[in-house]
Amino acid sequence: MDKIIIQGGKALHGDVLISGAKNAALPVMAAALLTEGTNTFHNIPDLMDIKTIKKLLRNLGAQIEGEQTLQINVDKINSCVAPYELVKTMRASVLVLGPLVARMGVARVSLPGGCAIGARPVNLHIKALEEMGAQIELKEGYIEAKAKKLKGAEIYFDISTVTGTENVMMAATLAQGTTILRNAACEPEVVNLAEVLNGMGAKISGAGTDVIKIEGVTSLKPTEGTIIPDRIEAGTFMIAAGMTHGELNILGCVPEHLEALINKLRDTGMKISPIKGGLKATGTKKINSVDVKTLPYPGFATDLQAQMMAYMSIGGGLSVITETVFENRFMHVSELARMGADITIQGNNAIVRGVPQLRGAPVMATDLRASASLILAALVAKGTTEISRVYHLDRGYEQIEKKFSAVGANIKRVAG
Ligand code: EPZ
Repeated sequence: MDKIIIQGGKALHGDVLISGAKNAALPVMAAALLTEGTNTFHNIPDLMDIKTIKKLLRNLGAQIEGEQTLQINVDKINSCVAPYELVKTMRASVLVLGPLVARMGVARVSLPGGCAIGARPVNLHIKALEEMGAQIELKEGYIEAKAKKLKGAEIYFDISTVTGTENVMMAATLAQGTTILRNAACEPEVVNLAEVLNGMGAKISGAGTDVIKIEGVTSLKPTEGTIIPDRIEAGTFMIAAGMTHGELNILGCVPEHLEALINKLRDTGMKISPIKGGLKATGTKKINSVDVKTLPYPGFATDLQAQMMAYMSIGGGLSVITETVFENRFMHVSELARMGADITIQGNNAIVRGVPQLRGAPVMATDLRASASLILAALVAKGTTEISRVYHLDRGYEQIEKKFSAVGANIKRVAG
């Protein structure tokens, strides 16, 4: 398995071009199952998870050409099964459930199972589809769903769920009647998906708010859409500028998607200013420690919690980081501690006492965003850090070591 080796201590300067968002591309590609004909999607990132969903969609009968701009044709669906072997490598595979039930009236999708950051059930996806008339059984680790024709329903999500909102929104586009989703997720990736679905002829309003209305139509047609930039990648590089006391132009990002982070980084003393095509992030000499609480969008993104913890581990004081979205998203704490961070976990709070200097060490990536926090810590640590299991990183960051070395980091990947 590949490793990433970093010599810490370099301030980062220069331009970073942000790639398309993994968490927007995955549901948009699944939406292609709803139409016959060829859909064209632009700004698709080159990531492991994209390769995985391509494999899954091809298994179902899709023809897919291209990379950054890709064509997906699903004239015919010749399987409605999403097998465990594929779903276990990427939980977001569950996003084919809604489209398959809507278009084919049947689906057999493996339960995703948990992952490092939590149990991550999909009970809310299932409950909503049942409220729309699907008969659903859980058998031998699979979700077996059947529905002659889904019916519009009023659905309330107990918990704001991103892929739950996306799955049900896709299913509702072809239901008989109108569906209202309440306590829906407001993430920009949900809005991106709604725009693509409306381009296919769906009738969706309210995406981006917590009440989304979908009027069912009889069929959808293929469309052309563009994936939004990855706000989590952008946030990761903004934090890197702060940690290394450097200055980065984050190009291609959408500042409105990063308001919670921008607000926090300014509180730490960083300068964040809009520039043509994105944002300029400038580090500060003295890092103020700030408290962070993760929340559904537009609150502070849980996917930036680990990166912010790396930043606060060299802050000037004490920071309390509260994780409210996932129950086990502190796997990076023990690895950061190996580098000299002073962090105590109390329930869903991490108490981070800033230290003057982190030290390089061999560390292990445990999940996608935890891996990013280890890279950030390594960039400022004294000496060499060797990060193993970087396949976690490849799931969600396009050529991350190339992007970091282009702005001055001493970083290289070695085949493991
Ligand atoms: C999406 O995951 C993202 N993945 C995650 O990004 C992100 O961390 C998460 O949203 C929160 O923003 C994709 O979009 C592919 P949820 P998702 O359903 O949809 C509970 C990354 O690093 N829940 O919004 O799976 C759940 O356990 C990944 O790119 C239920 O209880 O997350 C969690 O506590 C990691 N029942 C909370 O809701 C359900 O049926 C939010 O989960 C669904 C969710």
